[in-house]
Parts: sequence; C-alpha cells; structure tokens
Amino acid sequence: MGYSLDFNQSNYETKTLTLDNQTIEYRAFEKIVYVEYPVDVQFHTMNIYVPDAYFKGEAIGPYTSDRAPILLINTVGGYKPGEPGGPGQGRFGEANAAFFALKQGYVVAMPGVRGRSLQDDNGRNIGVAPAAIIDLKAAVRYLRHNRAVIPGDTEKIVSNGTSAGGALSSLLGATGNHQDYEPYLEKIGAAKERDDIFAASCYCPITNLEHADAAYEWLFHGLNDYKKKKIERVNGEIKKTPIEGTMSVDQITLSAELKRNFPPYLNSLGLKSSNGETLTLDESGKGSFQKHVQSFLIDSAKTALAKGEDLSELEWITINNGNVIDLDFGQFILFATRMKPPLAFDDIELKTPENELFGTASIKAQHFSAFAEEHTQVDGSLADATIIKMMNPMDYIGSSENVTSSHWRIRHGSVDRDTSLAIPIILATTLMNKGYNVDFTLPWGQGHGGDYDLDELFAWIDNIAL
Ligand code: DHB
Repeated sequence: MGYSLDFNQSNYETKTLTLDNQTIEYRAFEKIVYVEYPVDVQFHTMNIYVPDAYFKGEAIGPYTSDRAPILLINTVGGYKPGEPGGPGQGRFGEANAAFFALKQGYVVAMPGVRGRSLQDDNGRNIGVAPAAIIDLKAAVRYLRHNRAVIPGDTEKIVSNGTSAGGALSSLLGATGNHQDYEPYLEKIGAAKERDDIFAASCYCPITNLEHADAAYEWLFHGLNDYKKKKIERVNGEIKKTPIEGTMSVDQITLSAELKRNFPPYLNSLGLKSSNGETLTLDESGKGSFQKHVQSFLIDSAKTALAKGEDLSELEWITINNGNVIDLDFGQFILFATRMKPPLAFDDIELKTPENELFGTASIKAQHFSAFAEEHTQVDGSLADATIIKMMNPMDYIGSSENVTSSHWRIRHGSVDRDTSLAIPIILATTLMNKGYNVDFTLPWGQGHGGDYDLDELFAWIDNIAL
C-alpha cells in the first residue's frame, strides 16, 4: 500500500504573515506526499497555500475559490533538488512570489522536486534526469486528482520557475500528457490524470542543453576572457567571490568548432520573424537570425529609455530624437561579457551541473552531446538519447502527441550570460511560429534571476486567466 492521493482538507494551519508592510492570511496545507510511492519523502511532498478569504466565501478581486488560478512554483536552481517552498522572504530578504500570489488571490502550490546530487541510503543517484520533470508532472496530476476539494481552477495552472527551474517550467508547459514520461510517472505512483497546464512562466530558462554549447560560442566566440561571481550565503550574509580566467588555446579551438556547428542547427529549425522572414545564419554566423536577436535587444533598450533610464553613456547604442534606432551587436557582447569557457554546458571533464543532471543511478555525470563525447578528456559516456530528448521542450512544442500550453511568458535578462541569448530566443520564436500566445522580452540591464517583475507577471496572468 502506498500513500493516499486524496487531499486531506482538515490538515492545515491558518497563518498570518506580514512582510514589506503588507499582510496575508492563508491556510497552509503542508508536507503533502503527492505520489503513492515516494522515492524521497522530503522532496515528494508539496505545500499548498490558499487565501483564507476563500473559506469565508469571499472574493479577492475577480477571483473566487473555484475560479482562482493556481500558481505552481518550483524552487529548483542549478538542477539541484528544489525544496517545497512557501510564502516568505526571497534570497535578498524581499517578499517572494508565493507571498504576492496569495495577496493577488491565487492558490499557490509548491512541490518539492528531485534533482542532481540527491542520493538514497545506498549511494544511488535518485534525482538525475528525468526525475525533476516527472515530479512536476506528478504534482499537476495530484492537483487535478483533487480538483473537487482543493480551491483553485485546475484548468488555470500557471507554472513558474527560474533558470534550471525556468527550464523545467518550459518543459512542463511544452510536454503535457506525452507518453514518454508515463513509465516514470507510473513507477512513483502519480495520479492517473492529465498533466498539461494552462500557462508557463519561465525566467532565464537554461534549456535546449544539447545545443547550448554551440549557441554560447556563436554569441561569445572571440571573447576569450570569462568572469563570473560565485554567490553564497556565509553567516546569513550574501558573499560574492569573483572567478576570472582566460581561455586556453585548446578552448579557443573548441570555441571556433562549436561556433561553426550553430548555423546548421539554427537553419534546420526554419524559424520565422514576426513579419514572416525566414531566420538563417551563414557559415560565418551572420544573417537574419542575428538581426532578430539584435531586434529584441533594441526593443529592450527602447523600453528602458521609455522608463527614464539614461543610456547616453553607451556609445554603441544609437539614439535619435529620444528613440533607440540601432545597437552595435559586437560592442554589446563586449559590454555583456562572457561568463563560461567552452564547453559551457557539456564539459569535456564532466564538471558542470548539466553533466550531473544526465548521470544515472550509478554514474555521477555523463555527456549529452555528440560533440562533447567526441572531445571527452575523462572517457565520459553519453546519456540515453530518449532521456536527453525528455529534458528538451524544443522536441515537443506543438506536437500532436502532447498538449503544449497556450500561454507563455519568457524573460531573460539582457546581460544574463548563464546561457546564450539565442536559447530563449529560439524557444520563444518557435512558440510564436507555432501559434502560441507568447510574451517575451529581454529586460534591460537584468542579469541572471527571476521574479523581479511580479506586478507585470501577475497582470499577465490576470489577463489570460479572466
Ligand atoms: C543555473 C545556472 C547555470 O549557469 C546553469 O548552467 C544551470 C542552472 C541556475 O541558476 O539554475
């Protein structure tokens, strides 16, 4: 006998929380095991939060208990396990998305999600791909299974996540009900329900991993210095340690090879701009797709200017009569700077988070691209092709074999170098070309992060949900 999949309505605590001079009252249903056969009881649990008003028959703005959207928030970062979170303070002490979502009248569901580095008592890896996406799907199924008793509308589930969590959000949005995931869902005893969702909100999705190395070198080839900051909490304080380096001759050679691999991939997608022009790149990496990327940056600078930002010191931006009319792409790259040396994702020494993501129960880390496998320095093996596919939303968007969310909101900071700008742009353009409702921008000056524009996110959710 496994755990029950039936929601216990009487197992809650009523809570009041005040942050930033705002107060919310809600019922906290916590530590709910959401599958029959949890692999890890800490992570196979979900917290569900409901505005208290709904238990008094009251409305919050336009929403009532049965009409409220459900915001499904994952806390995954770095493809590590994500704790089942709740309303409270974010990384920098600010009130978090769950807090404001409850204030807005949404029901909030925060499932724990398995990730790389999670091991059982026998030292077997139990969070490697595709565990994280299986868990999010199982959480959706649990909510649907209990739709009669959990407040909120299960046809209005909106997923939210940042970075690796943003990638998982895009995967959840893209792959609804696909058979590929079924055996894994069955194994953990997920409810037998649909797992497609209404909308996906994705902040800086670190996705399309097997093409991300080529996309990175397409953008950054020629820039041989890299710098990043290691961010950690030490005694409650955020500590940022700069890590800087210059690429070796071998890395520069790899960069050139990878850059050459990007145009064939990009051209194979057959993407189109909003005015119907086919987006391509020539062998040197130049072409209409580069202009397409540039156009999103120009739009971003325009928005910043309209909000009153002073861009006059950036000489590579041409401003005429208060309007941004051009932006020098090469100068922009120098301004943004490179964060990672090649191979940015599928490391030839198997040292990245992504290599561990594609480990197995007994293998710590693997390659997930033919290029890295060919260049491996540590005799690394290649992950199973189906599992690589199951972690990439690109392979599912718009397929007749699954249901892709109708609504998408994707944000990637203009100076976020954790992945190439090409990656979110390919994702957003593919969705647009296939007729989905996509709200996509590269917020100006924004680095790697998420949930920085919750007012706008919630206005977008209200707009699609009502
Ligand atoms: C994250 C950041 C990365 O640079 C990466 O390669 C994978 C995940 C993250 O912040 O989740």
